[in-house]
Amino acid sequence: MQSSPAAVSPGIEAFIRELPKVELHVHLEGSMQPATLLDLAAKHRVTSVPDSLEGVRDWYEFRDFPHFIEVYLTSLETLCDEEDFARLTADVAARLAAQNVRYAELHVSLYAHLMRGIPAGVVFEGIEHARREAEREHGIRMRWVPDFPGDYGVETGEQTLDAVLKDGPASVIGFGVGSVEVSRAPFADLFARARAAGLHSLPHAGENGGPERIREALDLLGAERIGHGIDCMRDPALVDRLRETGVPLDVCPTSNLCTGAIERIERHPLPRMLRAGLTVSLNSDDPPMFGTDLLNEYRVAHRLGLGAAELTDLARNGVVASYLDGSVERALLAEIDEVLERWSGQ
Ligand code: ADE
Ligand code: ZN
Repeated sequence: MQSSPAAVSPGIEAFIRELPKVELHVHLEGSMQPATLLDLAAKHRVTSVPDSLEGVRDWYEFRDFPHFIEVYLTSLETLCDEEDFARLTADVAARLAAQNVRYAELHVSLYAHLMRGIPAGVVFEGIEHARREAEREHGIRMRWVPDFPGDYGVETGEQTLDAVLKDGPASVIGFGVGSVEVSRAPFADLFARARAAGLHSLPHAGENGGPERIREALDLLGAERIGHGIDCMRDPALVDRLRETGVPLDVCPTSNLCTGAIERIERHPLPRMLRAGLTVSLNSDDPPMFGTDLLNEYRVAHRLGLGAAELTDLARNGVVASYLDGSVERALLAEIDEVLERWSGQ
């Protein structure tokens, strides 16, 4: 199901736009606009994707989570050369900056490119070129989290990490695992190697695979943040542990609706997670595939019952859970607080 933009009052809309934001859970490739997908498909004569905007809209109606992953991986076939990766990155950066996103940590589906014979160097050259340009042009900072599909097995993770350690730039700050959620246990040694190389452990866990996946991510992968993690709400002892340890969760409400992880947006656990004292940030995951963006996720959060102060908490949590430098982090937190103060005084 594609989501439609949520409506909020003009006052809250202005507040959400003014709030300086970070995105900690957004997939670079899953941020490709339909028009870019069509252009790249035409450029490379890729016939596995639709050839019209209406066709893409229908294609983004996902039956279930595995179907979403199938569509996601197929859409990646349009990314073939350095210029494609640079174009995608430039577009994504401009759209984030236009939402007043100051900093983003973007997952890059590196293995999906390696398996199609595209060298890691091609991917990194393209995205790095555009990342540096975007920082100059829009002032937005971006960092990378290469990942691999867990359901393809640990060898794919090994190949992905090898490529990152050989060709990855300094702007790679983490390592992740995504796709259809399988046990995280087989990836313990792999993530130990990534952490020893200075990469942060940033796995998806508990998006739809149950609380046990989150425990594995914490105990076996040394997870420093949990991608999604909404399934923790099925396990009170795990909620206590996450609150006590302060491990942040990157929550993506519209994604959860569109992939079938939840049945109705009204039932999304975000408000309960926040009120349980969890360090929750708000994120868009694969925005055009779900008909959303980060501004819209804040609107959705407001419609779930969160007022300006709680939306500010979400924005602050994102900054605190990010890998921004300390001085930039402090300045951003002060700016966020100023926006709330101004808004509360109106
Ligand atoms: N890859 C792209 N989006 C994803 C998601 N929401 N969960 C797991 N893997 C993904
Ligand atoms: Zn994700």
